[in-house]
Amino acid sequence: MSTAKLLARICALPLGLALGAVQPAYPQEPEAPADEQPAPVPVEQPLPYSHKTHVALGIQCRDCHAIADPGFTAGYPAEATCMACHASIKTESPHIQLLAKLSSEGTAVPWNRIYRVPDFVWFSHASHVEDAGVECETCHGPVAQREVLFQEKPTTMAACMECHARNNAPNDCDLCHDPG
Ligand code: HEC
Ligand code: HEC
Ligand code: HEC
Ligand code: HEC
Ligand code: HEC
Repeated sequence: MSTAKLLARICALPLGLALGAVQPAYPQEPEAPADEQPAPVPVEQPLPYSHKTHVALGIQCRDCHAIADPGFTAGYPAEATCMACHASIKTESPHIQLLAKLSSEGTAVPWNRIYRVPDFVWFSHASHVEDAGVECETCHGPVAQREVLFQEKPTTMAACMECHARNNAPNDCDLCHDPG
């Protein structure tokens, strides 16, 4: 980031933040007004995949959701990752037979997307997880306890900005809308 841009970002901060008012340590839970909290609607998926079952087997989040360079996305696991076990586990299940068929055809499972921000928003997993040390659960809830996922944390502009303000992170418009 250029010095001019850095200065512009510092100047755009509310005075209290710029003067180093005492801030709680991050990462913190994003909070949104109650009327912005998304309703807990489980999202239907093409296979009855359970995070609870699979995380309990000891598989780490990032074994399946690699935050690969340049780090914008966490992504979905390759079908080969699943077949490492399912070539021999539960092969009598019609769901696993569908998984095996897609995998052998080289077709990705058509998972339905749960969390998404519009294209005009700049968001990076690497910046938050690796650089800022924010936990997955802070933005996605207790995934390891869920049989079925749903959007349980907001991704509204207000939610992003509130967490930034509480964590002493910049909040000027071009941070999220026009990074250069
Ligand atoms: C064995 C592989 C595997 C592991 C381990 C795993 N996931 Fe997933 N994850 C998936 C698959 C498959 C999906 C798509 C199906 C679904 O949404 O449940 C998914 C979906 C998600 C989504 C929703 C993405 C969207 O569509 O917006 C989030 C968030 C997520 N995982 C977070 C996590 C976190 C946090 C952990 C660790 C606690 C984790 N996952 C561990 C395979 C895995
Ligand atoms: C470390 C081994 C392992 C990996 C990797 C793995 N699974 Fe599983 N999976 C299991 C086990 C164990 C069960 C539980 C089997 C049982 O109920 O007896 C299971 C159950 C399932 C079931 C339920 C099947 C049914 O009909 O009851 C689905 C669907 C499934 N896995 C999908 C996936 C997908 C998709 C991936 C890749 C994202 C994946 N699994 C990766 C071990 C694994
Ligand atoms: C600061 C909040 C935040 C953190 C921390 C975070 N995510 Fe996300 N996640 C998001 C947002 C926002 C999206 C939607 C991104 C988009 O549409 O580009 C998303 C999307 C996803 C998706 C859907 C596919 C994709 O890559 O866009 C998966 C899977 C996912 N996150 C998993 C994880 C896992 C696993 C971790 C921890 C290693 C994690 N996330 C940490 C906010 C976060
Ligand atoms: C859990 C709190 C939290 C949430 C929620 C959150 N952020 Fe952040 N974000 C941070 C922190 C902390 C930083 C690091 C600030 C710094 O550089 O010290 C950051 C940094 C950033 C950066 C700068 C990254 C870089 O590499 O320069 C962007 C852009 C950003 N966030 C966008 C977003 C967007 C868009 C959302 C909502 C979809 C969001 N953030 C939600 C805490 C959060
Ligand atoms: C920390 C990240 C972040 C910052 C800073 C930010 N925005 Fe946003 N903005 C978002 C996200 C995320 C959305 C998409 C919200 C959604 O999907 O509902 C958005 C959406 C918008 C939209 C589309 C209309 C709407 O309300 O959904 C406009 C216009 C906008 N922002 C303008 C601005 C302006 C002007 C500023 C500076 C005062 C700003 N944004 C600062 C994250 C940010």
